[in-house]
Amino acid sequence: MHKPAVVVSSDVTLSAATKVLDSANVGAAAVLGSDGGLVGVLSERDLLRSVGHGIDPASTSVAEVMTPNPITIEAAAPIEEALDLFRERRFRHIPVLDDGQVVGVISIRHVVRVAHIEDVKPAGAAGPGMAPRGLEGVAVAETSVGDVRGEEGFFHYRGYNATELARRCSFEQVWHLLVEGELPDEQRLAEFTRRTVEARRLPDGVADLLPPIARLPGYSPLMALRSAVSVAAAALQFEPTLDISAEQVRADGVRMAAIVPVLLMRLHRHQLGKRPVEPDPDLSYAASYLQMLTGERPEPRAARAVEQYLILTMDHGFNASTFTARVITSTGSDIGSALTGAIGALAGPLHGGAPSRALAMLDAIGTPDKAEEYLRREIQAGQRLMGFGHRVYKTDDPRSTLLREVAGELGGPQVEFARTVEQTALRVLNELKPGRRLYTNVEFYAGVVMNSVGIPPDMFTPTFASSRTVGWTAAIAEQAANNRLIRPSAIYVGPPAPREMPDGYGAYAGAAVRAGAAG
Ligand code: ACO
Repeated sequence: MHKPAVVVSSDVTLSAATKVLDSANVGAAAVLGSDGGLVGVLSERDLLRSVGHGIDPASTSVAEVMTPNPITIEAAAPIEEALDLFRERRFRHIPVLDDGQVVGVISIRHVVRVAHIEDVKPAGAAGPGMAPRGLEGVAVAETSVGDVRGEEGFFHYRGYNATELARRCSFEQVWHLLVEGELPDEQRLAEFTRRTVEARRLPDGVADLLPPIARLPGYSPLMALRSAVSVAAAALQFEPTLDISAEQVRADGVRMAAIVPVLLMRLHRHQLGKRPVEPDPDLSYAASYLQMLTGERPEPRAARAVEQYLILTMDHGFNASTFTARVITSTGSDIGSALTGAIGALAGPLHGGAPSRALAMLDAIGTPDKAEEYLRREIQAGQRLMGFGHRVYKTDDPRSTLLREVAGELGGPQVEFARTVEQTALRVLNELKPGRRLYTNVEFYAGVVMNSVGIPPDMFTPTFASSRTVGWTAAIAEQAANNRLIRPSAIYVGPPAPREMPDGYGAYAGAAVRAGAAG
C-alpha cells in the first residue's frame, strides 16, 4: 500500500487536492474531516468525472465529489480480503486503518502485483492460483485506450467522457483519438480523413470473392464479414505485428477499419441480389455507411444519428472481443487474424447481443395500451425485458441516455412509443424486481435509432462491429507496442495422469492407408 497514507482535507478545493495527488504520484487520497477522522476517498476517477460534468475545480470542495463513507480494510487483514473487496465492489483504492487511524491506501495495482508472486485464491476460484470463472474482476493488462465505470455510469476514451465525445465530435476525430492517442487539430484531422477515405478502396481481387461468400447457405452478416476480413487481410499481405513498426500496426488498423463498412455493405447488397454501392469519397464515415447501404445520400440528421451511435460503441473497456484481439496479437500474429478473431467473439449472443431483440419486443407489444400487461406478464413468467439491465452498469447506461436523446431528435411515432414502453418497463421492473438496479441499456434505443435511419435489424450488430473495429485496432496497437505472449494455464481435472493405454495399443501398427485399417 501507499504508506504513509496520502491525505487531503475535505474542505480544500479540487485544484489543491489534484496537486497533492500529483506530487505524491498516487491515484487516490484518503479524505479527512475537521476532526481528523476518515470521511471519504478522493480518486483520479472522481476528479475526472467532475471535470467531465463541468465542475469548476478551483471553487468546488473535495467533500462535494469524493466517495463518502468508504469501505476500509484493517492493516492486518490478509491480502485475499483486499482482493475480494476490489473484485466484488469494483473499487480501485481502499483506505487502510490501524486502530481507527488511516495508515495507508491500498490500490488494486498493489494487490495485482502481490497476486503475481503469491498463491492467492480469489473468491469464486476453483482452487489456489485459479482466477474466478470468466475472469470476472481480474485485471489482466494495463490500457490507456479507455475504461468503463459501471457504478458511476461513466465510460471514457483516453480520459475523455465518451458521451461528450459523441455529442461534440465526428467519428473521424474520435477514431484519431483512439488510434493515434490524441484528438486531432484541424490539419491533422484533414490529413487523417484523407487517409481514411483512401483506405476505403478494396484491395485487388477482393470484390470478386464477396458474392460467393454472400451466397453461402449459412450466411449471416457477421459470418460473412469475418470471412471477408480474412480475405481482405490476405490480399493486403499484412505482416505479423511482431515484425513491423508500431506505426505500421496502426496504419494496418486504419486500413482495415476503413474497409470493414465497405465489406459489410457489399455483402449485404449481394445477399439481397442488389448491386453494391461504391463509397462516396465526399462523405464522412457515417454518411458513407448509410449511402453504401441504401444507395442514396443520407439526410444529415440521419447521418449524425448513426455517427453518434458509432462513436458510442467504438470501445467499451476490456470486453471479450477486445481481449480476443489482444490475445491473438500477443502471439505476434497479423492484424487481420486479430480482427477475424474479434469478430468471431462479437458474433456470440452473450457479447454482440441483439439490439434487434429490443425492437422485436416493441413490435410484440404493438400499442402503448398493451405495454403494462405485456411487460408484467413477461417478468412474471421469468423472462428478461430486452434492453434493460446490465452486468457492469448499475445505474443509467450512459449510452442509452444519449441514444434516447438522439432518438428524440429523430422523432416519429416509434420513438414516442419506445419512450412509453421504457417508462412503463422501468416502473414495472422497480415493482417486480426491487433492488436489482435495472435500468435501460444501450440496446433499447440503439435498435430504435438504427431502425429510424433505415438500417435493417440484421445489420444492427454488424453496425456495432463496424465501429468497434476502431476500438479493436487501438487495443491491437497497444498490445503490439508493449507485447508479452498471453499464455495462462489451466488446472487439469481429467483422469489421473499418466494413464495406461488400452489393449491393442502395444506397438505402432504401421501406416493405415484405408480408414479403419489399423489393428
Ligand atoms: N428483465 C427482467 N429482469 C431482469 C432483467 C431484465 N432485463 N435483467 C436482470 N433481471 C433480473 C434477473 O431476473 C435477476 O432477478 P432475480 O434476482 O429475481 O433472479 C436480477 O435481475 C439479476 O440478474 P442477473 O442475471 O444477475 O444480472 P446480470 O448482470 O447477470 O445480467 C444482463 C445482465 C444479461 C444484461 C441482463 O440484465 C439481461 O438479460 N438483460 C436483457 C437482455 C439485454 O438487454 N441484453 C443487452 C445488454 S447490453 C449489452 O450487452 C451491450
